[in-house]
Amino acid sequence: MRRMPATRQNIVLVGFMGTGKSSIGRLIAGRLGFVFVDTDALVVERAGREIAEIFASEGEEHFREMETAVLASLAHLERRVIATGGGIVLRERNRELMRELGLVVRLTASEDVIYERVARNTKRPLLQTENPRATLSALLAAREPMYAAAAQWTLDTTTMAHGAAAEAVIAEARRAFAWQGAK
Ligand code: S3P
Repeated sequence: MRRMPATRQNIVLVGFMGTGKSSIGRLIAGRLGFVFVDTDALVVERAGREIAEIFASEGEEHFREMETAVLASLAHLERRVIATGGGIVLRERNRELMRELGLVVRLTASEDVIYERVARNTKRPLLQTENPRATLSALLAAREPMYAAAAQWTLDTTTMAHGAAAEAVIAEARRAFAWQGAK
């Protein structure tokens, strides 16, 4: 029988903007005693500029380079909950780096709920278009296969409170990490 390598003890959250990665990630980290990390926040910290400014002055490709560099810099860590930017799955290299980090969980939500959550927020440059709803729809459809390819497990957060979503991810992590006494 082929032995599977042990899953590194990090939880990586992927998913579209507005699926709850940061809020749910913080709860998971608090409950497990893991450290919470947010790749968007690390990019902003390293660049010394907000994401919208990076997109406007250096362009999306530059932001993507920074995102990959941030992800690679986390490679040696353990016991982290890592919330990622919604576009991190676009690069195959990022998908590999995330798999090496540990359990990759995809959060989803219905298009309506995502729209409600992101509509009034101007911090997301990709949705600052004439018709954000149509942009959101097109991006979701285009990215769907990449989220599916990146994640080992998916949780639909459409009707879930953040606390319940955090518990569900923790239960899955206990199985993935084969923790003794997993409830
Ligand atoms: C992006 C999502 C954002 C942020 C950037 C690009 C995307 O992160 O990384 O605006 O391409 O979907 P959130 O998913 O945390 O909003």
